[in-house]
Amino acid sequence: RRVAILLSGGGSNMVALVRSMTGDHPSRPVLVVSNDPQAGGLAKARDLGIHTAAVDHRPFGRDRSAFESELQAALATEEPDLICLAGFMRILTPDFVAAWRGRMLNIHPSLLPLYPGLHTHARALANGDHEHGCTVHEVTEELDFGPILGQARVPVEQGDTPDSLAARVLVQEHRLYPEVLRRFVVGDRTPIHLSNFHSMT
Ligand code: GRF
Repeated sequence: RRVAILLSGGGSNMVALVRSMTGDHPSRPVLVVSNDPQAGGLAKARDLGIHTAAVDHRPFGRDRSAFESELQAALATEEPDLICLAGFMRILTPDFVAAWRGRMLNIHPSLLPLYPGLHTHARALANGDHEHGCTVHEVTEELDFGPILGQARVPVEQGDTPDSLAARVLVQEHRLYPEVLRRFVVGDRTPIHLSNFHSMT
């Protein structure tokens, strides 16, 4: 499978995905696209030898479909057949989602259906949750709510801040997303569940 990765920020999930697509893995990363030309993930992708593109969303203002037309044009240059959203912070229209139905994944830093949307770690702490984590799901029209393909859980520790909790979750994101991708590209949709207790060996 030809995988395109969309990001808005540092791209640590992109790095984990790219590093997983080696050897006998049936997929290859063909393009990394950002809505922010200054995104740190673009430089990391270039360092990894991956083609990159930037489609700045700001000139389009609230015209999401005009932005997405440019996004589709950038994607068409490498003809991916799967999109991984990885720290991509733009909401996609139902038209774009429909065009990629069944071929677009996203990672969200909470145990969906808990905490769709933003500031997930602060919300989990505010609720006094003892457990938190991340979810990889298929992207559908409803934000952060498609079929769940995998989750990873971490304990909330005494004294956690949103940043310390986010850092613990991020480690699991980098385990979960490559595992889900590996299964997804061979048609395995069985949801997987990881926890960071294994990695404490
Ligand atoms: C991560 O928490 C991810 O779950 C969220 O964006 C954050 C940064 O991701 N979507 P990355 O380092 O840019 O991959």
